[in-house]
Amino acid sequence: MHLTVLFIFLFLTVANTTFQHPFRYQVPFTSTNDDQQKPSNSYQFKWPIRKIAIIGAGAGGLVTYREFARMGYEVRIFERDSVPGGNWHYTDEVPLNAPVPNLDLSEADFQPHLPPENVVLPYEESFVGLEPSAVSEARRAHRAPKPIWHSLTSTAPKLRELPWPEHTPLTLTQNHLQRYVRTFASLHQINSNDNNPNTSYNTRVERVDKRYDANGKEAGWSLTLRKFIETGPSSYKIQWWTEEFDAIVVASGRFSAPNLPRIPGLAQWAQLYPHLISHSRQYRRPEEFTNQTVLVVGGSVSGTEIAEDLSGKAKKVFLSIRPHEDSVFRETRNMYLSRVPKNVSIVPEIKFFHPLPIRPTDENFGIGVGEIELINGTLLRGFDRIIFATGFRYAFPFLPQYHNASLRSNETIPAGSGRPQPLITDGTHIRSLHLDSFYIEEPTIGFINMNLGIESFMYSEFAASAIAKVWAGEAKLPSTQEMWDQHWQRVIDAGGAYGGQFMYLGSAKEAALVRYIIGWLNEDAVKYGGHQVSHTSLDIS
Ligand SMILES: Cc1cc2nc3c(=O)[nH]c(=O)nc-3n(C[C@H](O)[C@H](O)[C@H](O)COP(=O)(O)OP(=O)(O)OC[C@H]3O[C@@H](n4cnc5c(N)ncnc54)[C@H](O)[C@@H]3O)c2cc1C
Ligand SMILES: NC(=O)c1ccc[n+]([C@@H]2O[C@H](COP(=O)([O-])OP(=O)(O)OC[C@H]3O[C@@H](n4cnc5c(N)ncnc54)[C@H](OP(=O)(O)O)[C@@H]3O)[C@@H](O)[C@H]2O)c1
Ligand SMILES: *[C@@H]1O[C@H](CO)[C@@H](O)[C@H](O)[C@H]1NC(C)=O
Ligand SMILES: *[C@@H]1O[C@H](CO)[C@@H](O)[C@H](O)[C@H]1NC(C)=O
Ligand SMILES: *[C@@H]1O[C@H](CO)[C@@H](O)[C@H](O)[C@H]1NC(C)=O
Ligand SMILES: *[C@@H]1O[C@H](CO)[C@@H](O)[C@H](O)[C@H]1NC(C)=O
Ligand SMILES: *[C@@H]1O[C@H](CO)[C@@H](O)[C@H](O)[C@H]1NC(C)=O
Ligand SMILES: *[C@@H]1O[C@H](CO)[C@@H](O)[C@H](O)[C@H]1NC(C)=O
Repeated sequence: MHLTVLFIFLFLTVANTTFQHPFRYQVPFTSTNDDQQKPSNSYQFKWPIRKIAIIGAGAGGLVTYREFARMGYEVRIFERDSVPGGNWHYTDEVPLNAPVPNLDLSEADFQPHLPPENVVLPYEESFVGLEPSAVSEARRAHRAPKPIWHSLTSTAPKLRELPWPEHTPLTLTQNHLQRYVRTFASLHQINSNDNNPNTSYNTRVERVDKRYDANGKEAGWSLTLRKFIETGPSSYKIQWWTEEFDAIVVASGRFSAPNLPRIPGLAQWAQLYPHLISHSRQYRRPEEFTNQTVLVVGGSVSGTEIAEDLSGKAKKVFLSIRPHEDSVFRETRNMYLSRVPKNVSIVPEIKFFHPLPIRPTDENFGIGVGEIELINGTLLRGFDRIIFATGFRYAFPFLPQYHNASLRSNETIPAGSGRPQPLITDGTHIRSLHLDSFYIEEPTIGFINMNLGIESFMYSEFAASAIAKVWAGEAKLPSTQEMWDQHWQRVIDAGGAYGGQFMYLGSAKEAALVRYIIGWLNEDAVKYGGHQVSHTSLDIS
């Protein structure tokens, strides 16, 4: 299967020589157009890049720190959570209820909380005499407990420096992964208990703004930071300050802004019974659903795995799915569905939530009395709980200037308007990235692990290396025009419009992209200096 796909890529590379297309790049040094390799044709950075901020201390951010630190950059890493690990920091503490309907994307992951205007930074505010629940809510909003559950397992993703010991089982628990990522942080002295001045935990990046020098010339980025400090069971304080950097790596993860479908009537149900309607990011253990009738919505990884987990404890589990038009996705969908136990009832998509009684009495309390209409006309009732495993949206609340919700999937900002192409529009994808890593409008903003269907631990090693080498001048980006040309070609290949599938790579395209990156970096290292990159070990020179 993979061999066939690779063969097709190879064939297309030979057949189409007009574009130097990364995803089909299989013959690194023979078929490229030499003009495009000339340094005079490459992108020139406007200021020297020495001081870097990394947003996020998941596997991706930690690997990025390692890459930049070993190349001699000054690096700071900011993490909103109290410890490293990112997605793999499991806690019984759950995220806040997902808002229904979805919030605007510029605040969907979190609502930036900036210091009051006209105060001198650093600035501190104390909150005292609070209910413990208010402290908990403030903490959860700040750190965002991660969207994983207790029984979650994973195949063993790995980082080149840390081979899993021999006899490691094929399937690992989330706890193994949590320890693995923390071990990596400790190896580089950037764990939360290392008190490394280059790290700042409990610190959320609220805003990234352009910085200008005394002559009004662009000179990098200014980060507005917010630290949450718990001072007692009924008190906490917030500190705000800013720090300045030459460039920023966004490694903030893909799975934090929840997606709740816009189904008529759902908002009323969620408003009346917020604790009975949740998003998969809040799911932890099946015991909480003992003897209950549960409706899970969404037939992808989370929905099917949660339905399976629940089926051992719940009285009855229903799973609402919708058909997928794309055949590749239909295949994976069927694979997920095949794992769902037979006693889980699979039902069609929901059309409508019939209104619940506004003034509940003892007899008609809860959502069990409410009727849910499916698209085939069937009415369901009697649910105790509903879990929406309906995925996540891309959002960068700290970069609101590069969000534009009014652009449709086939629309871009007119060329020559002087306004930047955005990163985020409807939340289904990220636009305007070169090699999925460099924001073409501002190549001093890099991104790590934003694709779907990739082995993100492994992938981050090469993406981080590419960004670190490009910013050091040891590898060159093509001209802005060439980056756009390649990008538009990628959009055309994805069907002529942006959308959810635009972010999906899958193992064959991921492997091709990694091979391309390694070939490019090593070829440029010969010209411009610096170490060579290898697929298997950290250093080959
Ligand atoms: C349910 C589930 C199961 C998964 N299973 C697998 C699997 O089996 N195998 C696999 O390889 N991958 C799996 N993944 C994908 C997972 O995202 C990756 O394994 C990995 O965590 C990606 O690392 P990352 O560093 O890119 O992002 P993350 O691990 O998400 O880390 C991002 C970090 O950025 C921090 N952050 C975000 N915003 C800010 C801000 N404004 N300021 C400061 N810090 C911020 C977050 O707190 C977080 O710590 C799964 C994901 C989910 C949701
Ligand atoms: N063990 C593991 O490895 C593991 C476990 C869980 C998650 N993950 C990772 O986590 C990521 C997120 O997975 P996810 O499952 O949470 O999100 P997801 O893959 O985005 O899936 C969301 C699902 O909800 C469906 N959906 C949306 N609205 C719906 C509606 N109104 N009715 C019915 N279905 C609806 C979507 O259908 P459409 O496709 O039609 O939009 C989609 O199938 C994935 O990349 C996955 O790799 C991994
Ligand atoms: C912090 O980063 C600087 C480079 O900016 C480095 O010299 C120093 O060793 C780092 N500190 C630790 C504790 O890793
Ligand atoms: C679940 O239901 C069974 C059978 O009705 C009952 O015996 C059991 O006590 C219930 N368990 C809980 C935790 O309510
Ligand atoms: C459903 O099937 C699974 C697996 O076969 C089993 O573990 C579980 O107890 C069953 N649940 C119910 C409610 O019958
Ligand atoms: C609609 O879906 C439900 C649940 O799967 C099923 O029981 C019912 O037969 C379907 N109705 C029609 C008309 O297809
Ligand atoms: C957002 O896109 C619309 C086009 O749909 C455009 O008119 C508007 O100017 C854009 N906003 C910004 C801030 O670029
Ligand atoms: C873009 O899509 C909209 C529907 O979403 C359609 O009406 C419009 O014609 C499309 N525009 C182009 C240029 O394809």
